[in-house]
This record gives sequence, structure tokens and C-alpha cells, in this order.
Amino acid sequence: MPPRGAIPRIALLTGGGDAPGLNAVIRAVVRGAVNRGWEVLGVQDGFEGFFGRDRIRPLHSDDVRGILQTGGTILGCSNRGNPFDFPTAAGDGRREDRSAEVIEKVRRLDLDALVVIGGDGSLRIAHSLGQRGVPVIGVPKTIDNDVLGTDFTFGFNTACQTVMEAIDRLHTTAASHQRVMVTEVMGRDAGWIALYGGASGGGDVILIPEIPFDYDSICRKIVEREAAGARFSLVIVAEGAHARSGAKTFQESASTAAAGAPRLGGIGAVVAREVETRSGIECRVTVLGHVQRGGSPTTFDRMLATRFGVGAVESIERGELGRMVAIRGSEITSIPLGEATKGLKTVDPEGSEVRAVEATGVSFGR
Ligand code: F6P
Repeated sequence: MPPRGAIPRIALLTGGGDAPGLNAVIRAVVRGAVNRGWEVLGVQDGFEGFFGRDRIRPLHSDDVRGILQTGGTILGCSNRGNPFDFPTAAGDGRREDRSAEVIEKVRRLDLDALVVIGGDGSLRIAHSLGQRGVPVIGVPKTIDNDVLGTDFTFGFNTACQTVMEAIDRLHTTAASHQRVMVTEVMGRDAGWIALYGGASGGGDVILIPEIPFDYDSICRKIVEREAAGARFSLVIVAEGAHARSGAKTFQESASTAAAGAPRLGGIGAVVAREVETRSGIECRVTVLGHVQRGGSPTTFDRMLATRFGVGAVESIERGELGRMVAIRGSEITSIPLGEATKGLKTVDPEGSEVRAVEATGVSFGR
């Protein structure tokens, strides 16, 4: 880097999995910073970009033109590059702590702040780096909406929109064939996507990890609907949902098994099989998968991402580091990263959202 006098210099990275709205945050951070006369660097592929050569480049206003509406991230992302738990070069499954290299690189780049746009994993890394003296600021991203201390993460609204549109389509074919349509959605250990997407799509049964379900209760609802003249039902299952008597369902692949990071998935098929056997009604399963992570962000997510990006720049300007920007009510604020990363924000089974949806006749399989 050339000498730059007193011009502030920040870097940003997008960690973990992608989510709609990442590019909108990048654009907002770059524009907010450039308008203040700051320099901005983009780190390629999340924290992995701190290792190897030529993975950190300057970002100018031109680089972020026309990206507000695009899904994905122009910086690339990765969930393999945790510097505190980095795969050894031998590729033998062992891990090592390479955080000192990141800290040294941040020092050599003379960064005034590192903006980490990520979910709980990336934010935990940011917090640990912050505790070791790296000037960090976090921006909460995930379709799962499970980050503590913020009412919403960006990406969630778009994912729910996708789920809702899929259920709308499944609705007509379910009605034509008098079937039970089971839709499996993402969300890891939180049921936010199933709750918001499922309720907005008019789901009849919504199964979330926070409310272990009972097959008798699900079938009772479906049979009741039949008796009332509705000859089809829509069941939305969060990938982390499980029966009262059972465990979560995982799909193992060689890579996830090797990485020690089992992937959730498959509960939709389990539920469909059980419901068909018990009720005698034909079931079909749709697994929405990564469709939920792709595509153009909704108005809500573009706006939230923009406010988060500018909020991060403003926090840096005020010298408020080691924090995560958040939305509480309609206001953008920030909270200590330590607070945001001490757990996951899950659905309250007795909270107002669940109660409202349940009051409209939706079964949570309790
Ligand atoms: O955290 C976001 C998320 O999409 C989860 O809902 C899902 O369980 C997981 O990521 C899938 O991860 P991957 O893209 O590594 O398969």
C-alpha cells in the first residue's frame, strides 16, 4: 500500500454463507467511506482472503456500481477460513490457530477498521479478533435471522419471500391433486424462515426446531381439514425441526463429515413418509435448499443492508469498535460483539408471532 498520511483506511469482508443483500451492504460501506475521503479494501472469500497472495484489493465507487440489486457477493465468501481453526496445509483434517497472521496483516495494512459482514460464526471470529486488538465492526447477515441483539438480519426477508412464493405455487398443485405438500426450508436451529415464510404462504402445519412436534397432532390437523372440506394441506418443516420422540435429521456428505460439520436436511421426507403412512393421504416433498439464499434482495433487505452498511461506517467514524450494528424497532443502533455472539436468537414458542399464527388455526404440531 502507498503511504497515505492521515486518510482513514478500512477493509471489509463477507464471511460464512452468502445471503441476499451482501452486495447492498458492500455498496453502502464503500460509498459511505469514499464520500468521507476514506480508503476501502475488499478482502476476497471471507477470512480466507487474509491467507495467500493478491486476495485484498482496493474498492472504489466504480466497483460497486450496479450491484444493489444483485444476489451473492462481489467479494466471494467462504466458511472454511476461520483463522482460529484453520485447516492445516497437509489437508489431513487437522486444524491450527493462524489468527496471529491475520492480526499481523491488519497491522501491516494499517487498518482503522475491519468490517465483518457475517452470521454468528463470522461474528464470533470478529469478536475474538477484536479481543486481540483488531479494530472490528460486525454487520449481521444470515437468512436464518438467528443473530442475537438485532430484530432482523438482512437476507431473511428475501428468503421468506422465496419460501412464500414457492408455497403459493405448491398450493394450487396440492389442491388439484388433493395431496399433502411438505416443504422443507432452511434456518438451522431456528424456525424463523419456516414461521414467517410458512405463515405468509398460508401453511396449515408449521414445524420449527423450537417446538418439538407430535405426529398425531399433525395428522389430526390434516384429517380435520379433510372433514371440513379442504382436501389438501400444506406442511412447512424447518430443517432443524424434530419429533418430540426423535432427534434432528442430518444429511452427511464426505466433505461435511471430514470437516466435522454435519449438515441438516432430510426431515421433510421423514415427515411426509410418516404422515402418509398414518393418514393414508398422498404426500409429496419439496426441499427448497439454496434457492432460499439466491436471487435479488427484496426492498426490505436492500434498505436494511444499506442502513447497516452506513451504520457501520458511522460507528467507525465515532470510534465505536468491537460492536455489531443492529436494528431495534425502526432504529439502527449497535451492540457489543460479545453480547451478539453469546448465543442464538430462536423463536419463542409462546411469543406473539407464534400465538398470532396459531390463533388463525395453524398447527405447530404440539
Ligand atoms: O446459515 C445459512 C444456511 O443457509 C442455513 O440455513 C443452512 O443450514 C446452511 O446455511 C447451509 O449451509 P451450506 O451452504 O454450507 O450448505
